[in-house]
Amino acid sequence: MNKNNADTAFFGQPKGLSTLFFTEMWERFSYYGMRAILLFYMYYAISKGGLGMSQVTAASIMSIYGSLVYLSTLVGGWLSDRVWGSRKTVFYGGVLIMLGHIVLALPAGETALYISIALIVVGTGLLKPNVSDMVGGLYDLEDRRREAGFSIFVFGINLGSFLAPWLVPWAAQVFGFHIFGNEMNFHAGFSLAAIGMFFGLVQYVLGGKKYLSTNSLTPSDPIDKGDLLNIIKWVVIGVVVIAFVLGIMASVGQLNVDNVITLLTILAIALPIYYFVAMLRSSKVDKVERSRVKAYIPLFFAAAIFWGIEESGSVVLAIFAAQRTVLHIGSWHFAAANFQSLNPLFIMILTPVFVALWDKWKKQPSAPEKFATGLVFAGLSYMWMALPGILFGTSGRVSPFWLVGSWFLVEIAEMLISPIGLSITTKLAPNAFRSQMMSMWFMADATGQAINAQIVKFYSTGTEVQYFMAVGVVSVVFAIIMFFLVKKINILMEGVK
Ligand code: GLN
Ligand code: ALA
Repeated sequence: MNKNNADTAFFGQPKGLSTLFFTEMWERFSYYGMRAILLFYMYYAISKGGLGMSQVTAASIMSIYGSLVYLSTLVGGWLSDRVWGSRKTVFYGGVLIMLGHIVLALPAGETALYISIALIVVGTGLLKPNVSDMVGGLYDLEDRRREAGFSIFVFGINLGSFLAPWLVPWAAQVFGFHIFGNEMNFHAGFSLAAIGMFFGLVQYVLGGKKYLSTNSLTPSDPIDKGDLLNIIKWVVIGVVVIAFVLGIMASVGQLNVDNVITLLTILAIALPIYYFVAMLRSSKVDKVERSRVKAYIPLFFAAAIFWGIEESGSVVLAIFAAQRTVLHIGSWHFAAANFQSLNPLFIMILTPVFVALWDKWKKQPSAPEKFATGLVFAGLSYMWMALPGILFGTSGRVSPFWLVGSWFLVEIAEMLISPIGLSITTKLAPNAFRSQMMSMWFMADATGQAINAQIVKFYSTGTEVQYFMAVGVVSVVFAIIMFFLVKKINILMEGVK
């Protein structure tokens, strides 16, 4: 029984946590470092080292890419449970992610971009859900260090996400300026992302051998022969359907990036609907569990709207940083990409504040109330961004503190939704759908970003005021509806708090 209770080598936690901490820290370093410059790489002119795409297409690709990264966790969780076990699945994921960054490090244009996206989408799907799952596996169920362990792990996520938007653009600038004579050498930046993932992998393999349990080497629910035939059948059907749809699109001359993105948006909306219907109709779900799944539906909606706004930080706010923001404070100059570190910075600052708040607050609000309040803050973070345009017009540049303020507001929302959502998801999950329900949590993010991939087409400097106001109002209106539903949702949760 006693797994690691005696092992307190890493801040009082088992040594395996250190391995997983640095694996995820480097993985997030590579992901958010790459994303901090990817948008600009896509729409900068070729003469400036970019791909010369339109800004609208670039923004849409950023969003659908973010969506797919979380959708693919569905497949990653499944492969770990049924085929490889988490240890190997995480390793394969890390290798694919590193390869994805290496491909972008080569000056090979748009083809390299799409190959890289495919590699990183699949790789992250394999790595992300399973590395978190292994953190849980370090502790006995009754081990009191469990929650603190997860907090330390999340700190690692944010540390990597904070450092990368400084170091990756810095590499791109230093090499671009001093060596290639260009403004930016994006490929040097992507190389640093690849190197980060390489560090992560090396320490994962070395530390994993010593500190991670051998349980993680085998799947928890291995597929048998009968399952296998069924699975092969469905994979073949899936591939044929995809080939058929793409074939038809090609034959009518409609196979282009925009239409593929639209198709993926539909997929990211249809999948959660399918999952909800499947859970509600399953005979493995009893009456109480069914009621809890119903309670989860409005929470899912709220989460999708929140993640839509939060994740647009690397798209819409990044464009605002590049085009509408003064990029220095006094004599301190910075790059537009550096703003991406504000999100994880505020998470690191605010997490202890909120931990203390929930600790002290005896009659604290219920999860649906926290969600609704979070949506108000998310909406405000957008309405706030409409102000500079309203006050000063949209032709010039404004103080960087507008963006700082927006990120501060959205991170208050994140404190009210992300950790609460993670924990309520596990509590509302029907027994027979434990891991699928966890995937639903990532799917809320995927759905939010898939919707972004469509609406972001309406964003430009000329429309920013209307854009920020419209999305902000949607979020606040949904928050108000949610406040009215709180009682009902709490009843449907059947005792879950
Ligand atoms: N930003 C966090 C991460 O990168 C959480 C994302 C999420 O839960 N959707 O891990
Ligand atoms: N926003 C990213 C996450 O929640 C950095 O950790």
